[in-house]
Amino acid sequence: METDFLPWTEKYRPKSLSEVMGQEETVKSLSAFVKAKNMPNMLFAGPPGIGKTTATLALAHDLYGKSLEGNLLELNASDERGINIVRGKIKDFARSVSMGEKVPFKLIFLDEADALTPDAQHALRRTMEMYSPVTRFILSCNYSSKIIEPVQSRCAVFRFLPLTDSQVHRMIKHVADKEGLDVDEGAEEAIAYVSQGDMRKAINALQGAAIHSKNITEEIIYKISSRARPKEIREMVDAAYGGNFLDSRKMLLDLSTQYGLSGSDIILQVYREVVNLEIPEKKKVALVDRIGEYDFRLVEGANEHIQVEALLAQIMLLGMERE
Ligand SMILES: Nc1ncnc2c1ncn2[C@@H]1O[C@H](COP(=O)(O)OP(=O)(O)OP(=O)(O)O)[C@@H](O)[C@H]1O
Ligand SMILES: [Mg+2]
Repeated sequence: METDFLPWTEKYRPKSLSEVMGQEETVKSLSAFVKAKNMPNMLFAGPPGIGKTTATLALAHDLYGKSLEGNLLELNASDERGINIVRGKIKDFARSVSMGEKVPFKLIFLDEADALTPDAQHALRRTMEMYSPVTRFILSCNYSSKIIEPVQSRCAVFRFLPLTDSQVHRMIKHVADKEGLDVDEGAEEAIAYVSQGDMRKAINALQGAAIHSKNITEEIIYKISSRARPKEIREMVDAAYGGNFLDSRKMLLDLSTQYGLSGSDIILQVYREVVNLEIPEKKKVALVDRIGEYDFRLVEGANEHIQVEALLAQIMLLGMERE
């Protein structure tokens, strides 16, 4: 296959379970299922971009080898309108004869299963049972709490974890080597910071930056990711805490225009920097409490500029309070 025009997330998606990074316990179990050529229905839960779809495709690849086609049905619950279409497709697929005979069941991957309404999930549970002799289901979701109990109880649940910074570094180095890019240390750290364990985000940041230059720097990464440098956020908060409200307000304005940050982006970044601030623990607690309040106001639709400035004002008041 011509891979030059693929997004890098696809181009570098692990093909086999042995190439999947992290998720050690899950990968161990899945490999054992492949070996046994038997497995339960499964539910993969966890935040975006950490390997749920990847692990499913890798499992199918390892299980069926060349006869993958015809043995794997991929359905996206949020694309397919209504459970009836899903059921129809599952029925046709379960009835069709599979190519290879080595594995006695076919695999149905239902992505974004948490987008199914509870009614649709109830219907699904019947479908899962009806075809259980000849099919296995893998459901994928971001929030397992949105999957009804009866469906969860029919599945072995695997929780996927955000990837560690060092796993992200390893992947970025691999892709950079293959693509002939020079990623300096600051840029590596920046990619880990903006992606927060989401490998898709990390690879996309690298590909986005590579459009600008083969030498990837932290400036480019923060710019294209619409994130301020953590240091700049700290300086803004420090200014407010130290009583220089107008300075901090100016920094805020600069950050917003320079990086195109929204109010909630800024509040999130301030939140992430709380642990790194050089202020007493008690003040950190008070600050997190305020951040919670202002985050909530934004969700409720309050004016972003005013709220972020008001948060800075709160930080200044905190700084002025006596111990
Ligand atoms: N554990 C991993 N090991 C190696 N690469 C990974 C891993 N997780 C994600 N990736 C990379 O990120 C891309 C997206 O991952 P994937 O499609 O598996 O995410 P997902 O967990 O299914 O997310 P979503 O919840 O959004 O569907 C993959 O194409 C791959 O390049
Ligand atoms: Mg997915």
